[in-house]
Amino acid sequence: MITDFFRRVVLGKKEKFIFKGYEKGLLDFNKIDDGIGIYIHIPFCKSICPYCPYNKVLYQSEKAKAYKEALITELILYKEKLEGKEISSIYIGGGTPTLLISELKEVIEFIKANYKFGGDIGIEIHPNEVSNTLLSKLKEMNVSLISLGVQTFDEEKLSFLGRGYGEYEIDRALLLIKEYKFKCVDVDIMTNMPGQSIDEIEYDLEKVYSYEIDQISIYPLIVFPLTKLSRVIEEKKLSRFNELEERKILKIIDEISRRHGYKRSSIWTYGKNPRNRYTSVTRESFIGFGAGASSHFGNYFYLNTFNVDQYIKAVKDNRLPVNIVNLMTKRDKMMFWIFWRCYDGVIDEERFEELFHKDMKKEFKLLFNSLRLLGMTMRRGKNIVLTDLGRFAYHFVEKRYSIHYLNNIWQKSMEEPWIKELRI
Ligand SMILES: C[S@@+](CC[C@H](N)C(=O)[O-])C[C@H]1O[C@@H](n2cnc3c(N)ncnc32)[C@H](O)[C@@H]1O
Ligand code: SF4
Repeated sequence: MITDFFRRVVLGKKEKFIFKGYEKGLLDFNKIDDGIGIYIHIPFCKSICPYCPYNKVLYQSEKAKAYKEALITELILYKEKLEGKEISSIYIGGGTPTLLISELKEVIEFIKANYKFGGDIGIEIHPNEVSNTLLSKLKEMNVSLISLGVQTFDEEKLSFLGRGYGEYEIDRALLLIKEYKFKCVDVDIMTNMPGQSIDEIEYDLEKVYSYEIDQISIYPLIVFPLTKLSRVIEEKKLSRFNELEERKILKIIDEISRRHGYKRSSIWTYGKNPRNRYTSVTRESFIGFGAGASSHFGNYFYLNTFNVDQYIKAVKDNRLPVNIVNLMTKRDKMMFWIFWRCYDGVIDEERFEELFHKDMKKEFKLLFNSLRLLGMTMRRGKNIVLTDLGRFAYHFVEKRYSIHYLNNIWQKSMEEPWIKELRI
């Protein structure tokens, strides 16, 4: 019901999105773009955080070894398809990717030896994982972008989130990371946790900025219905900020960031240097490797199976581990592009024309006229940019998109390794 309303009103799309079970021939790999990004998903964690919606299982060393072999086999399955294509970046996310650091070293070496790769390598790090040994290994692997999942400095909230560290450990991790002079160090912070006060948010931001890192990503906690936290919040009737209070918080975040010399670089991030960014989610096209990884190129958006055992088995049998495929219409593809450019906060009309050979404002006349009239967008030079109100609206939409679309796709993918068809 809500997904229907959202799809019709926000996306202007009457029909449901259809994800078909993958079968050979459904994807035309000749459509892979040059300059494509690679994403590698490592679905292992030492413990499971109650709010986390991502695909992950508890770490087991034997399974991790088999997973590494499977990743290399999946890369081999793509070898011909990626022949001659430039790979512009590699992002490694999870889960807790550094649990497989030695295995990842082999995977990266394999990519460097077998593909045309020339770009940055980024990785997500859990604070408990930070050590001299790990950071030296990352340097040896030429990892230049790192994202540290701090979330908050408040001990009580950290314990509520099941993070397994406190302020002292974060401090130690950040000081050590700084010694290694990575090109970009990003810190993830979460707001709108149950019982969190504005003072606590201000403390977290001031504290992060005191380390003079390159980027800060500030996400409001999204309570995905598939998570344990969703049940806890409902049972204990925990309260969180409402939308108006969240808008006020966004203003406070802007103000503190500006004062420290950080500019907004996307809807959730602030940075010092626009050229050094950790931007795992905003590639125009990307291929995801690993269990639960998603890919997008040409008119395809597809997901690998989420089930780690089934993933390993499929690639062992020389089968692509693709589970479901959405065949995008040209309009879906355009909308998808606009959605992620809104995430960046800047929509480049000329790039749209280059990609789709259409005039963006004519093609989406109603959408852009409404956004302008409502004061959500404005022109800056050749670009359309989101205003503060536009950014607030995007936050609103993104949260609903996560709760009603991503949640349902991911939940179903966690329940069924091989889905026949999904309409959403
Ligand atoms: C894959 S996760 C984290 C990587 C690493 N496993 C860790 O926990 O530090 C990437 C980031 O997403 C954000 N995140 C995770 N779950 C979220 C949720 N339910 N709502 C909002 N942000 C979330 C967190 O800030 C997290 O650092
Ligand atoms: S938040 Fe990070 S550490 Fe926690 S379960 Fe999710 S991926 Fe693992």
